[in-house]
Amino acid sequence: MPRYSRRQWLQCNAALIASSYLVGCAELTAKPKNIGLRLVFYTDVHAMSQRGAADAVLMAAESINHTRPDLIIGGGDYIDGGFSRSSQSMNPHWDIYMSMHRAMHAPIYPAIGNHDLVGVQPQDGSVPNRDPREDYRQRLGLSRTWYSFDQSGYHFIVLDSMNIIGGDDGYEGRLNSEQLTWLKDDLSHIASTTPIVVTLHMPLLTNLFAATEGILSGAPANRVMVDNVTILDLFAQHNLLLVLQGHLHVAEVIRWRNTTFITGGAICGNWWRGQRMGTEEGFYVIDLNGNQVDWQYVDYGWNAIT
Ligand SMILES: [Fe+2]
Repeated sequence: MPRYSRRQWLQCNAALIASSYLVGCAELTAKPKNIGLRLVFYTDVHAMSQRGAADAVLMAAESINHTRPDLIIGGGDYIDGGFSRSSQSMNPHWDIYMSMHRAMHAPIYPAIGNHDLVGVQPQDGSVPNRDPREDYRQRLGLSRTWYSFDQSGYHFIVLDSMNIIGGDDGYEGRLNSEQLTWLKDDLSHIASTTPIVVTLHMPLLTNLFAATEGILSGAPANRVMVDNVTILDLFAQHNLLLVLQGHLHVAEVIRWRNTTFITGGAICGNWWRGQRMGTEEGFYVIDLNGNQVDWQYVDYGWNAIT
């Protein structure tokens, strides 16, 4: 794929011509009339001051806007490196991410990732944060890191999948007891036929480790939800239509029972060093129509600076 400067990209996008990728992008600009809801799922931005990320995130936002989503869902890890760094040192990363956030033109519903936990194990000698989620909530204007909402007949649930455990791993994927109680209560108000979309950073289901390390391999606790069966069981009497998940930086779609699980690739690809395991820097455009889920992974055209 040719490499575009930001100016070239914006000029090309304005004209809706040029490369085959841009033609593909143009095709996505008009939402078909029979589609109930179009959403963009983007994840793992890993905003940083290096490797051209400040330009890339604006390019990604521009590309997301051209797909004309009704709503935008974030999968976490908006900044890079918060877990092991101080709040102060993360401000430039937040500023870069927020430039992308402000540039997107649809309501945004974010889930938190491990990199968005700031000052958990700072390696610069600073005092650990008492509340590692505080900067995230303040920056994104959230009173809580998990919540639900309804739109166009769909029930959306956004979960905080991060459980800080210390030690070498630092964290694992798990819902705390307060959130489990909340989730049970939330579902008790939802009809069994209502289609539900769940978003969380740590995957509830993935084949990545089976595919890359052998089918008998399990996943490390800091890569997936260790309580995935418990969580999925809560939805046994409900219509869990779609699960959106991040963290792994690969584009993957799994259909299990009547649920589609989408692992959302990454805006940063391989941490701004190019594609990762065949997944380019990109995001998903997902069209929902009743219980039908149609998806497309969009490469927004960024090529890593080498
Ligand atoms: Fe992550």
